[in-house]
Amino acid sequence: MFAGMDYVDPVKKSGVKRKIVFAACLVMLCITMIKLSPSFGSPSPFSRHEAGVTHVLVTGGAGYIGSHAALRLLRDSHRVTIVDNLSRGNLGAVKVLQNLFPEPGRLQFIYADLGDPKAVNKIFSENAFDAVMHFAAVAYVGESTLDPLKYYHNITSNTLVVLEAMATHNVNTLIYSSTCATYGEPDKMPITEETPQHPINPYGKAKKMAEDIILDFHKNSDMAVMILRYFNVIGSDPDGRLGEAPRPELREHGRISGACFDAARGITNGLKVRGTDYKTADGTCIRDYIDVTDLVDAHVKALEKAQPGEVGIYNVGTGRGRSVNEFVKACKMATGVNIKVDFLPRRPGDYAEVFSDPSKILRELNWSAQYTDLEKSLRVAWRWQKLHLNGYGPSKV
Ligand SMILES: NC(=O)c1ccc[n+]([C@@H]2O[C@H](COP(=O)([O-])OP(=O)(O)OC[C@H]3O[C@@H](n4cnc5c(N)ncnc54)[C@H](O)[C@@H]3O)[C@@H](O)[C@H]2O)c1
Repeated sequence: MFAGMDYVDPVKKSGVKRKIVFAACLVMLCITMIKLSPSFGSPSPFSRHEAGVTHVLVTGGAGYIGSHAALRLLRDSHRVTIVDNLSRGNLGAVKVLQNLFPEPGRLQFIYADLGDPKAVNKIFSENAFDAVMHFAAVAYVGESTLDPLKYYHNITSNTLVVLEAMATHNVNTLIYSSTCATYGEPDKMPITEETPQHPINPYGKAKKMAEDIILDFHKNSDMAVMILRYFNVIGSDPDGRLGEAPRPELREHGRISGACFDAARGITNGLKVRGTDYKTADGTCIRDYIDVTDLVDAHVKALEKAQPGEVGIYNVGTGRGRSVNEFVKACKMATGVNIKVDFLPRRPGDYAEVFSDPSKILRELNWSAQYTDLEKSLRVAWRWQKLHLNGYGPSKV
């Protein structure tokens, strides 16, 4: 090395040149591969409308009913976007659907909270939806009496967020998941769609408010609206691909089928029947149980029949009330386990007897429960439960 003079080793210099040339070739290769990829330059299939393809936004599609609805929509060749914050649903259910329908443009999952209007607006601006099935909600009567604000926020104000995004982005078909809890405890059975709605718990009140918001908005819009008021949903996919897997921490608020299965599996020390002094034949509450397969069929029929500017409100039930005692008997038969039963005082917010008159949905949508059979529906659900002792496993995004 000579002081005051720059000296570059010629061997090193040619090594640097080779690296530059190599890097440039690599960049060119990448650009060529990206250009050759089928999706280059063309927008995502989810972001454009396609003739003959109905793109349905399924909110809450990682949950029990939403995942079954998504499966049916995909089977019927629809395009599905699931939006869910996984607060209650399972990523495992979405993965089952993704494995069944891996082709591009069939199913996408977006992790988002419907309580975040900016996020919801972004989803609507980036996707071309033809219809929305709005399932996402917290949905436990007991929990709603303990934490009412959560229910008004999650159900009522999130529905407003979804509706505003639909209006802004001209998405004109809404199928809304409502509930028989909006009727409260009517004097007359069966419940028709004309039965006055006097909900008696925050869950039912929040859903009724959401219905009112939708109906008020509808008066000055050409949106096609279908409001489906479900009765008590049971069962799971007859082919065993999906099931009902609520979070363990929600078990105490849970529904009767989950409680029966937990007792049959020995997770809980028997079944607690709350209330034996109702004014019913055997003193236990009466409900109208509807299989999830029938329920999603009602959604498909509602989607087919939805007309711009029209609104349809329908009870979705069998029209037949079954007592909790009858349910427990069917559950014992379906599981083959002689479940221990404890009889306890009434639960706040529960009502004695609820069953539907489903004649309007038969008349107008040509829908009736074809699949629901208490024992058979429970047997199908029990099969899934036994094969999925940890549900879908942990949900991590
Ligand atoms: N299960 C029933 O018996 C029954 C009866 C009547 C009505 N319904 C209605 O049906 C719908 C679905 O109920 P389900 O039994 O499948 O409940 P679920 O808890 O299994 O599913 C609800 C889904 O919504 C998601 N969700 C909740 N809040 C959200 C938010 N802020 N943003 C995004 N995702 C959110 C949850 O993560 C979950 O995946 C609800 O609207 C419920 O009120 C259910």
